Amino acid sequence: MSKTARSNLEAAIRRCYSTWGERYYDDYYASDSAYPPIHTDIVRDLLQKEAAGSLLDAGCGPASMLRDLALPGLERYGFDMTPEMVDEARRVLGDQGLPPERVWQGSVLDAAAFAASSDTPAGGFDAAICFGVLPHIPTEADAEVIAHLRDALAPGGMVAVEARNELFGLFTLNRYSRELFRDRLIREEALIETAKTPSEREALRAALESLDARFRTDLPPLRGGYADEPGYDEVLSRTHNPFELRAQAEAAGFEDVRTLFYHYHALPPMLEAESPALFRRASLAMEDPEDWRGHFMASAFILVARKPG
Ligand SMILES: C[S@@+](CC[C@H](N)C(=O)[O-])C[C@H]1O[C@@H](n2cnc3c(N)ncnc32)[C@H](O)[C@@H]1O
Repeated sequence: MSKTARSNLEAAIRRCYSTWGERYYDDYYASDSAYPPIHTDIVRDLLQKEAAGSLLDAGCGPASMLRDLALPGLERYGFDMTPEMVDEARRVLGDQGLPPERVWQGSVLDAAAFAASSDTPAGGFDAAICFGVLPHIPTEADAEVIAHLRDALAPGGMVAVEARNELFGLFTLNRYSRELFRDRLIREEALIETAKTPSEREALRAALESLDARFRTDLPPLRGGYADEPGYDEVLSRTHNPFELRAQAEAAGFEDVRTLFYHYHALPPMLEAESPALFRRASLAMEDPEDWRGHFMASAFILVARKPG
């Protein structure tokens, strides 16, 4: 990725998040209408099992997870690319007695950002998490982020990286499904090349058009910004394939790689409005990070892996 492309992308993402610093936790973690933060519970569990002594949150936002991970013996650190997020994270963690150097500004695309504080553990972190960041990373840079996380860990350290689940598109029957079917499963450009005659090409075009008609391509609505800044769906906000991300972690030398799923949907989300309370209740009841249905019915997953010790 060229320097200019990276700097334009990062500037757009910073603008997108610039107005979210103070409201992010209330809107997505604490509000009654938000889906409960199942992922923080999953990570807390993992950290407790590890008995981790140090944790780095790469792309920590307003310390939305870090603030709820005050575990005995755990030293918490974080960085984020958006200055307003860094300010809020420092304020919140400061109220919990952490010094401001525990949070700094930096990008996961920059190796130096992973140890930019004066008191980070010399041998690397026992654990590193990275949530909500991968959607904003271009495909060609995923491997770089995974390598940076690996290098930030102590030998035997654990990483937990969250991504939006691309395969959820098999369940949503909306715009994401169309993209998944056409671009990733069917690979229409290559398929069209196999048409031998104009009539085959025309039949294929008609078949694809007929396929489109099966999806609500007007859903979900695009999320705009609060003011003039670009909204979440107006900046790069990709989904990831759990099988591919797992292979990338293995290629980077990680061991014990697994995928844990969360934010289940008992029905395709477009049907939630039919009975919101039932939908929420039934979805919460499904939350089991190891259920195979998570591959399709959960909108997010966590890649958990260990750096060889
Ligand atoms: C959806 S929020 C998630 C915040 C927090 N990790 C959480 O899960 O609640 C995404 C955060 O990633 C940050 N971010 C996006 N791209 C980044 C990058 N390249 N390096 C570091 N942070 C980044 C944004 O500034 C924003 O605070």
